[in-house]
Amino acid sequence: MPTQDDIKQALSAVKYPGFSRDIISFGLLKEISCANGAVSVALQLTSPNPEAARVIKQDAERVLKVLPGVQQVFVEVRQPAGGAGAPGAAPGGAFGSQNKIPGVKRVIAIASGKGGVGKSTCSANLACALQQSGARVGLLDCDIYGPSIPLMMGVYERPGVNAEERLVPPVAHGVKVMSIGLLLNDDQPVIWRGPMITKTIQQFLLAVSWGDLDYLLVDLPPGTGDAQLSLCQTVPLDGGVIISTPQEASLGVVRKGIAMFRKVNVPILGIVENMSFFTTPTGERVEIFGHGGGQEEAARQGVPFLGEVPLFTEIREGGDRGTPITVSAPNHAAGRVFLSIARKVQDSLA
Ligand SMILES: Nc1ncnc2c1ncn2[C@@H]1O[C@H](COP(=O)(O)OP(=O)(O)OP(=O)(O)O)[C@@H](O)[C@H]1O
Ligand SMILES: [Mg+2]
Repeated sequence: MPTQDDIKQALSAVKYPGFSRDIISFGLLKEISCANGAVSVALQLTSPNPEAARVIKQDAERVLKVLPGVQQVFVEVRQPAGGAGAPGAAPGGAFGSQNKIPGVKRVIAIASGKGGVGKSTCSANLACALQQSGARVGLLDCDIYGPSIPLMMGVYERPGVNAEERLVPPVAHGVKVMSIGLLLNDDQPVIWRGPMITKTIQQFLLAVSWGDLDYLLVDLPPGTGDAQLSLCQTVPLDGGVIISTPQEASLGVVRKGIAMFRKVNVPILGIVENMSFFTTPTGERVEIFGHGGGQEEAARQGVPFLGEVPLFTEIREGGDRGTPITVSAPNHAAGRVFLSIARKVQDSLA
């Protein structure tokens, strides 16, 4: 007959579905008993996940049955109390998909057809706006070539590593921030970054100790090419937001962003028109890049229009200073727009 240690040893070959770690190291094993050729074990999940329970039961039975002297195997996988989606969802996530990030309820990607349209600015401000509405928010910068989230959020420290050897994201303005820029040295060759990150982005996501989050915003690299598409496939996205200037919207660049999200079945939460208009000190409204392209394209594509963000010096200054305008001047027209966009995003995911 196997000893308790033999049984533990055998069970350590069973991985938690979607994870590289095994069920023993996750601490799921609660009871072992064995007598007269029968082995009985009880495992306790930390988050409700029937699919994970089924797979774990099957795998555990398989590894125990082949132990010498074992004729009968009983594996009980207990589910915790509470419904799916309960906060604190641990390995396996609360939504059934094995790619889900533990503890993270909603993952939202921010994309743009072209560079320099204000994607990172909008990501940082939306993260802060969601945080101000009382949500627990993380912001992940996936832009490997030009990570600008650390600058915009005012984060410079390297992430810490906790006892479980996971990265601890620094917190800025109440938002947990993680960026490739916080991990790479400036002098590392850019050519090395591309292959590294597309291969390891998911491990990277899982290697971060996000804790419990209502929303994780992901600032994608600019563009809608293969690199962006593969990121959208690797990261378990719940929705996508497209940032555009009026001009590029009217030139059809937004369509590429929409096509990208549709290709990977990510619901499009809507379009934001950034640099929509400028108000002179005398109160005159100037539409530098045209106006309304975002709204028109949204109507044409049948996706929601989320709002117009004005071209405003303090938005840029706030970005350079590390304090998004949503934090420094939430009651200013520009701050209010981000709050209203955040509300629409929340509503469409509710
Ligand atoms: N509404 C705005 N008003 C004033 N300045 C803005 C506005 N939106 C963005 N900017 C400024 O424009 C510049 C580009 O913005 P940002 O870096 O957010 O764009 P991006 O789309 O993320 O660019 P990249 O493609 O390089 O990632 C920044 O200096 C930012 O501060
Ligand atoms: Mg950017």
